[in-house]
Amino acid sequence: MKIIMLGAPGAGKGTQAKKIAAKYGIPHISTGDIFRANIKGGTELGMKAKSYMDQGQLVPDDVTIGMLLDRIAEADCKNGYVLDGFPRTIPQAESLTEALDKLGQKMDFAIDVDVPDESIINRMSGRRACLSCGATYHIVYNPTKVEGVCDACGQKLVLRDDDKPETVKKRLTVYHDQTQPLIDYYKKAGILKSVDGTQDLNKVFADIEAVLEA
Ligand code: AP5
Ligand code: ZN
Repeated sequence: MKIIMLGAPGAGKGTQAKKIAAKYGIPHISTGDIFRANIKGGTELGMKAKSYMDQGQLVPDDVTIGMLLDRIAEADCKNGYVLDGFPRTIPQAESLTEALDKLGQKMDFAIDVDVPDESIINRMSGRRACLSCGATYHIVYNPTKVEGVCDACGQKLVLRDDDKPETVKKRLTVYHDQTQPLIDYYKKAGILKSVDGTQDLNKVFADIEAVLEA
């Protein structure tokens, strides 16, 4: 099963993608997580990505597309994957469609997690992330057992550099300009499914399961 998660920054794509990956036994591929791991590791790719991410801008397509296509060519992707944060521009979507065409494959679902902008800023300011294992929490909606400590790996949680309110606003503008057009792109492709992302996170997941198992 090949799935794309669409939705604004903070809509809950990562939260839901992790649940999908765990239930269906497919890898969760987050371009944001790949960039953050590279920043942490001090790689050249990380250095390049950081300057864009800190300003709420997209990392250029020429960097991102090759990286993602290499990742989905890896052995663990042969039974499918859930993409979180890619594609984010029309050229990224077209490159993905072309690459799959060449292999005689196609995307199965594009799931849009729909949350209005007003709810997003509130979610981001309460988000806490584990830079070691990639887990994400929320101080109110998805708290850890011990405050500030990752349930999964025991490391200290942080507020992401790009979750400051000014940067979140910029990311929302970029989302509406460059990423929202993908909703139409996948509607035309006949694989778009929308879920109401303002509900409790377990209810959102139940709606996604219903879509995937219909
Ligand atoms: P990325 O890491 O992909 O960030 P994003 O799309 O902005 O998405 P987020 O991770 O912020 O949010 P999410 O939707 O996953 O929400 P989450 O589940 O955490 O990208 C970061 C940057 O990298 C980009 O700005 C860009 O610079 C670069 N980049 C990445 N991919 C790129 C690409 N393809 N091309 C170019 N550049 C790229 O949830 C948010 C919070 O809400 C959490 O605290 C969570 O616990 C909580 N929550 C989740 N669901 C619910 C719910 N139902 N109710 C209440 N709270 C909830
Ligand atoms: Zn962790």
